[in-house]
Amino acid sequence: MKKILVTGGLGFIGSHTVIELHHAGYTPVIIDDLSNSELFILDRIEKIIQTKVIYHQIDCCNQAAFNQVIESEKTIEGIIHFAAFKSVNESVDQPLKYYRNNLNSLLVVLEAMEKYNIKNLIFSSSCTVYGQPEVLPVTESTPYGEIKTAYGKTKRMCEDIISDFVVATKNKNAIALRYFNPIGAHPSGLIGELPKGIPNNLMPFITQTAKGIRKELNVFGFDYNTTDGTCVRDFIHVVDLAKAHVQSLNYLFKNNAVSFMHCFNVGTGKGTTVLEMIHAFEKANDIKLNYKLAPKREGDIEKIYADTSNFESNIGWKAELAIVNACKDAWNWEKNVG
Ligand code: WQD
Repeated sequence: MKKILVTGGLGFIGSHTVIELHHAGYTPVIIDDLSNSELFILDRIEKIIQTKVIYHQIDCCNQAAFNQVIESEKTIEGIIHFAAFKSVNESVDQPLKYYRNNLNSLLVVLEAMEKYNIKNLIFSSSCTVYGQPEVLPVTESTPYGEIKTAYGKTKRMCEDIISDFVVATKNKNAIALRYFNPIGAHPSGLIGELPKGIPNNLMPFITQTAKGIRKELNVFGFDYNTTDGTCVRDFIHVVDLAKAHVQSLNYLFKNNAVSFMHCFNVGTGKGTTVLEMIHAFEKANDIKLNYKLAPKREGDIEKIYADTSNFESNIGWKAELAIVNACKDAWNWEKNVG
């Protein structure tokens, strides 16, 4: 069974990907420094897959510690690199923290790939690299847009760093997955999104409002040029997103090419407004949400959703789960967590 190193493997997308890796016959090895995750998630993962998972608590910015893990694990055949800070708002207030961590951790991964001759990398990128696209749905050939946050800029810079690395080394294969909006949770209700403090993202704010943790949900902006005036996003179930990583890994090992880097959009190809999401959550869970229309949030783009045809034709897979599944799974997790 191929050993795959998963940095940030106790995080929201990382933990769901570890489960799908196991189901696909891979052996995941988790690295996580718990800066934005909790150790109990490891127990939950092991409970779901009924298998012990190798875990190392180290900082991905520590090259010596990272190399030590690679040496001790011996046969790592691929790396999925999730470990990065991801709060869009926080990155505006603390840009250096984001540049230092998100760029440095990738450099540590790439240096180890070169030193230990690890050929395959999957990188956690983001649709934020597009800014506000002029034409929708957005394709991978859409040029980088105006990125307003350090978070988004680190994702664009990381894609450039990986591209230069692949060209220079001539024997590495990399896929950058540009996520759209991950939502939902594992159907078991044992793992899901664990925002620290007040959630930035829509779905955890919805579920915390439904649970009474938050008094009401603000809908940021209601006079956008959209069907109902609220923003449009491409919400993808986190289990689908996890499976997209496994399918990409399968492609890398099957393809066994000498040297390439691809960027792929990973979304559903469908745009959903904020109000549509709120009403879908209410209907799926038979709950009345307390929300109010509020001023726009600084930095938000109006509308984005993916053209997923490249991923479908190259990797041979597309998202299968609907918004209603994500709404039910997110609420099921919220009711269980904490
Ligand atoms: C979605 C919409 C808000 C909260 C995210 C991730 C980013 C990247 C892309 C992976 C916006 C509205 C939100 C609330 C609201 N993913 N909203 N009330 O900003 O699209 O970015 O997806 O890299 O990492 O952050 O996601 O969930 O914050 O907002 O009305 O309380 O919901 O205005 O229109 P966003 P989000």
